[in-house]
Amino acid sequence: MAPQERPIGKLERAIIFLGPPGSGKGTQAKELAKKFGVPHLSTGDMLREQIAAGTPLGLKVKPIMERGELVPDSLVLRIIAERIERVDCFHGFVFDGFPRTVTQARYLGELLKQHGLKQPFVIHMVIGTAILMRRLTGRRVCSKCGEIYNIYNRPPKLPGICDIDGGELIHRPDDREEVVAPRLHAYEKQTAPLVSYYRRLGALEDIDASKSIEEVQQQIWQCVMRILGAP
Ligand code: AP5
Repeated sequence: MAPQERPIGKLERAIIFLGPPGSGKGTQAKELAKKFGVPHLSTGDMLREQIAAGTPLGLKVKPIMERGELVPDSLVLRIIAERIERVDCFHGFVFDGFPRTVTQARYLGELLKQHGLKQPFVIHMVIGTAILMRRLTGRRVCSKCGEIYNIYNRPPKLPGICDIDGGELIHRPDDREEVVAPRLHAYEKQTAPLVSYYRRLGALEDIDASKSIEEVQQQIWQCVMRILGAP
């Protein structure tokens, strides 16, 4: 039976997508969450929603994100703690862009324990930085449903319009070339140490994220099936 056709059980844990900006975390995390019927939790999307709604939190984080820096742990942790309290998270969830610092990872470990969930498993998206610039500057995202496109290799049928719901496609302000370098720097300095943190716990697997979207999806699926102990 092809991996995609196997019946899907409950996830009952958190899966974390860890990788540099543009490595494909959002593209893959959404699909995996859909397969398991669990929420896809992107801290970047949550923060952008706050900015769009003009909340006090949104006003605080907007300039930080536009500079390509990480938002302070205390703000992100509050959002996550509230979000995973909700009933739709009881059978697990897929994190995209969280945790991003060792402090966030430690806090998450405690939260999961409190909620009776197993320790998380990390999908580490491995990719060279040369490919990332093209992926990020070419990305367009649907303003309505969040579908992710790329003008170079995954264009919509009509320029600027989402194939799914006709929503307007937007270019994220932090995908401008001059903001990509500070984002990559923040990843190397603050987030990359999480790779050894989770590897030491035996809870991380490397995925070659430079392959096509379909090939990466296949690798992830095989990895997740192994973790869950499926045949
Ligand atoms: P966030 O929104 O999390 O951005 P990111 O981590 O920089 O990651 P991206 O969304 O840019 O990339 P991705 O890996 O999801 O790639 P995607 O699938 O879209 O964070 C934004 C900001 O919010 C941060 O800078 C920070 O300020 C703040 N923030 C968020 N979380 C935080 C936290 N926990 N703590 C502190 N601050 C936080 O793909 C990219 C493009 O490539 C797309 O066009 C796609 O179509 C294409 N693509 C994907 N896969 C492939 C493939 N295999 N082959 C070819 N093209 C591909």
